[in-house]
This record gives sequence, structure tokens and C-alpha cells, in this order.
Amino acid sequence: MSRRGALRLGVAAAGGALASKVLGQPYLNPKTWSIAPAPVFDEELEFDLAARPRLYNLRAGPPTDCWYYYGSVRKGSPSALTPVPNSPLGPTFTLRPKQRVAINLYNGLPEDHVTHWHGMDVPAVADGHPMHAFASGATQRYEFDVRNRAGTYWYHPHTDMRTGFQVYKGLAGLMIVQDDEEQSLQLPRGPFDIPLVIQDATFDAGNQYVYNPDAMSGFFGNTLLVNGMPAGTLSLASRVYRFRLLNGCQSRILKLRFSDLTPLVVIGNDGGLIDQPRTYPYIILSPGERVELWVDLRAKPVGTQILLQSLAFTGGGAGQGAAFDVVRLSIDRQRTDPLQLPNTLSSITRYRLEDAINAANPRSFPITMIPPMTWVLNGGVFTMTGLAANEIVRADTLEVWQFSNPAGAMAIPHPIHLHGRQFQILDRAVAATRLADWNTVKDGYVDAGWKDTFMIMPGETVRLLVRHSRHTGMFVYHCHNLPHEDMGMMRNFRIDP
Ligand code: C2O
Ligand code: CU
Ligand code: CU
Repeated sequence: MSRRGALRLGVAAAGGALASKVLGQPYLNPKTWSIAPAPVFDEELEFDLAARPRLYNLRAGPPTDCWYYYGSVRKGSPSALTPVPNSPLGPTFTLRPKQRVAINLYNGLPEDHVTHWHGMDVPAVADGHPMHAFASGATQRYEFDVRNRAGTYWYHPHTDMRTGFQVYKGLAGLMIVQDDEEQSLQLPRGPFDIPLVIQDATFDAGNQYVYNPDAMSGFFGNTLLVNGMPAGTLSLASRVYRFRLLNGCQSRILKLRFSDLTPLVVIGNDGGLIDQPRTYPYIILSPGERVELWVDLRAKPVGTQILLQSLAFTGGGAGQGAAFDVVRLSIDRQRTDPLQLPNTLSSITRYRLEDAINAANPRSFPITMIPPMTWVLNGGVFTMTGLAANEIVRADTLEVWQFSNPAGAMAIPHPIHLHGRQFQILDRAVAATRLADWNTVKDGYVDAGWKDTFMIMPGETVRLLVRHSRHTGMFVYHCHNLPHEDMGMMRNFRIDP
């Protein structure tokens, strides 16, 4: 433990040195490398991706030293990979179920790297486990079949103790899956289907990222970013939009609402469309989570300004829970739009507790703190191969997992994420002593449909039902507060045949 603690400090210190060393490098041509395609996997789509430094004009003044995913399509439809306009985010993958996908990822960073496809049900060797990190200058090939339903998934680094820093430098992108069920609905498309990746950052006087997380609560930037750029104004028409919101923050929890109380009509979350549109008074979106909204602006006259705001809540601990504005929506043009909100979006069969193989005996994973200040899951800090007896499961079995966040004096909320399969939230309970805090967030939990990440408040217990992947091998579950993950608030679980 102390050795790992010391190692963390050393790595954190090296981070600053690396960052300034990279600054002086010239802009690198993404096409100066090439890989021989492997012949064994009969893929329909093959992509080249490269994580590299890149200077990007984020703010007035000097460019910011970002880390960036360059991408191109080597085989298949060029429309399967599209840049996010005017954004330092990685390009967006658009995939369909059953497609065979190969991704050649070149590590052009000055340190080890591995990328994870968040929410995707892929083989263990392609999942971006930290043990599969690879060195600067090397290439790693990922191969998987798309097994997910339509939804908004994302990709980002998963390097041991460096995930937070690498994401912070700009490495993140969307992986959107479309399927027939979803495409048959009359939902806003094309330019009216808008991804909004929300992050926060702090810049120094020279426009460089400042990263100084603390062990207890994580990192909170003083500038909101939308799709990687300092949040400005979205120019919109008086019509219906589909917003795909992703909380890509290091630690910051969002409690979202529109300033003019435009209804928050949720149509999807982590694992795609929910059963039917559901309206929320506000939406809790913790790091890693996604939510899709039907945003009807048809009644708004030209000139209307609306703020997407994050509201105050309590129980979040230091740095968390203050109110702030996220982004401004400006209605600049009149349009007529005949779209009608569908009554039914998707058919989702609810799992039943009694069908879980461990219905009477949930796997129980408490959140605790190892002194002086390391948050852990299941009683132990992450190690590459460390595995407890209660972290071995069988492929394709339905289980109930219970997470608890004991209400000690220091308790704070955590966003918990499982790799592998999407799951369903069974229920939540909260200790009476923490009910007041919980009441400031509970109506915003979008627990419908399929989830891969959920927030757990101090004093709260969450039970979920998961049918484990058919893919066997070593996966992780962890806190998606990235400084917590990097400190070791992550554990392996192994799926056996
Ligand atoms: Cu988005 Cu293991 O994480
Ligand atoms: Cu993930
Ligand atoms: Cu945490």
C-alpha cells in the first residue's frame, strides 16, 4: 500500500514534467506511421487510430497542448468515422450490431497507454484493461463484434494511474451504435442529433491545462467544456433536437435543468433508448453516464436564450454540489417541424430478482476508505491481477450485485461503472441519517433502461441485476471519478466459462 502510494506521488510529479516536455514538440503528422493489417480477423470495418499530442486553439492566445485521437477508416464505409466539428474530441465511430470491427491504435504519447470502449460488450483482450497498456511508439490492435444495441457509448484511456490525466489532456470520443429499432423511430437526425460531451478544466495564464486532483474529492476545473471547447453558445432553431449528453468530467457531478424549465424528456441513457419517454424535474449525470433528451424548442420565439444549468445539491463533499451554468442555447431561426414524440421507444424486458442465480445472496461491494485517504471498493486497492473470491463470476449468468456507500463522516458520492454488460438498477435505499442529502438528487436518477454507470450517494445502497457477458476473462469495475480510479478505487472481476 505505501509502495503504491509512493509510486502514485512519483507518477503525479512526472506528469507535469512530461506535459511541459511535449509542449515544445512540433505538430506531428498523423500519417507518418503505418501498420500491416493482421490477416486473421475478417473485419467489415477497420480503423486506424492514433493517440498523439496536438496543439489546439481552445482559447484566445497561445494554443493548448492537447492529446488527441487521430482516426481514419482503412476498410469499410468512410461514414463510420466522423470528426466532431470544431472540437478536439476524438472522431465519432458510428457502428451497427454484428459488425466486425478492428481498430489499430498507435500510441504516440510520451507514456504508456491503453484505450477502453466504455459500455461496449467486447472480449477481455480488447476491453482496455490496464494490464494491456502498451508503450509509447507501439501499436495495439483491437478486434470485436458489435454486440450492443443502439446507444451512445464512448472511448477513453484506461491506463493504470494515468486515466484521469490522459482523459484530461483531451483523449475521449464517442462510439455511437445505431440499429433498426432505433432508426425506425422518427427521432431528430443528422445535424439535429447533437452530442454534448460535458467536461471541466482549469487553464494557466499560458492556456495550458492545470491538473491538480486531490485524493479525497478528485478534480474540479473552473471552466466548463462542451465537446472539448470552452462552453459558448449553441445556435439552434425552433424545432426538436436529440441531445446526447455525456458527463466526461473527472469528478464533477451534474444536476441538469433548463433555466426556462423546458421539459427534460429523457429518451435514452447509458445503454440506449429507454422504454418510453420519461420527464424528469432535473437529471443527475455523474462522470461516465449518458442521457439522451428530446428537446422540443418549437414554442420558443427567435431570440430566446436558455441556459442548461447544473443545480445545487448537498452531500457531495468538498468541491461538489455548487450551482453553475453549463452552456447557453440561443434560438436564432424559426423552423416548422412535424416530428412527434413516440409513445413507445423500445421494448425492455425487466430482469426479475428471483431469476438471479444469487437472488438470496447478493454479491456485496462496500465503498470504504483505507487511511489516510484512499477510496477502495470491496476492501482493497486495485492491483493488475488482484482478485478476491467474490469477484469471480460465470459467463451469461444473471446476478444481483449490491453496492453500499456507508454514511461515515467523510462519505461522498461515487459514480460506479462495470465493464462488460449493460445492467438494470433493481432498487435503491438510503440510511435515514442521510435522507436529506439524498432528497436533493434522487428525483434525477435516470434508472430506467440499461445502465453501465450509476451514482451512489452517502448512506445509499444500490442493487443491480446484471447478466454477465459471454466474453470470459478479466474485466474491471471501478469508480468513474477518475482521480479515485487512478488511486486504486477499481477492482478486477473475472468471468469464467
Ligand atoms: Cu469509462 Cu473503465 O471506464
Ligand atoms: Cu467502461
Ligand atoms: Cu469514487
